[in-house]
Amino acid sequence: MKDSNPPSSYLSAQKNHINEIVDIHLESLADDFLPQLGKTVLTTYYNAFIVHNPIIIVKMENKVVGFAALGIHPIDIRSLFLRHYKQIICTLLRKPFLWGQAVWLAVPRKHATIYPEIQFIAVQKRYRGLSLGSNLIAHTQRCLSERNQTYLQVKTHDTNTLTNHFYQKNGFVVTGKEKRCNKTFHIYSKKIDE
Ligand SMILES: CC(C)(COP(=O)(O)OP(=O)(O)OC[C@H]1O[C@@H](n2cnc3c(N)ncnc32)[C@H](O)[C@@H]1OP(=O)(O)O)[C@@H](O)C(=O)NCCC(=O)NCCS
Repeated sequence: MKDSNPPSSYLSAQKNHINEIVDIHLESLADDFLPQLGKTVLTTYYNAFIVHNPIIIVKMENKVVGFAALGIHPIDIRSLFLRHYKQIICTLLRKPFLWGQAVWLAVPRKHATIYPEIQFIAVQKRYRGLSLGSNLIAHTQRCLSERNQTYLQVKTHDTNTLTNHFYQKNGFVVTGKEKRCNKTFHIYSKKIDE
């Protein structure tokens, strides 16, 4: 793949890209809470997300191969829970280890993130290592700069060596920690250059 990379293009996702975004999310972040709830719930999530938040996609060979979902006005996950409550309860009964995350997400937090945050970023497995992820971050910064935002945040599990390396390589520094369901997440921040 590396020797003959086809050209890549970066653009703002539209509703018609959501199916491809969801497929990449399901493949790349399979262990997270939302993918565990299934494709329908994840599709509803992105349909709500994209109304108020930009999603940058990268295309290669005319298909979406990666995306960065930028939370500027994060959606209230409780409305998603209400809409799909039957499916979610069935999933939680089958996968009781998800209860902690479900409760954590449903409880309103006092100290919500004040800066725009990369909610999700993923590149299809076979296209990784081609700097697409780093370029997606550069494009999210450009998008925020146009909106006069000064900082970008992202959270990742403290033990995930690869993602911690990826964010540090892209100029993020750890500015805090968040405890969630017996796991610790590094909060990374980056000042956006004008
Ligand atoms: C993180 C991710 C978006 C990076 O995309 P990418 O296009 O490979 O990124 P780049 O080519 O710009 O950078 C590659 C670097 O990312 C690191 N990396 C992070 N996660 C990786 C993963 N799951 N697989 C391979 N490399 C990964 C590599 O170590 C590499 O470092 P190096 O350049 O020093 O060798 C991509 O690996 C991915 O989709 N991972 C799965 C989803 C995920 O973990 N998202 C982040 C959640 S917090």
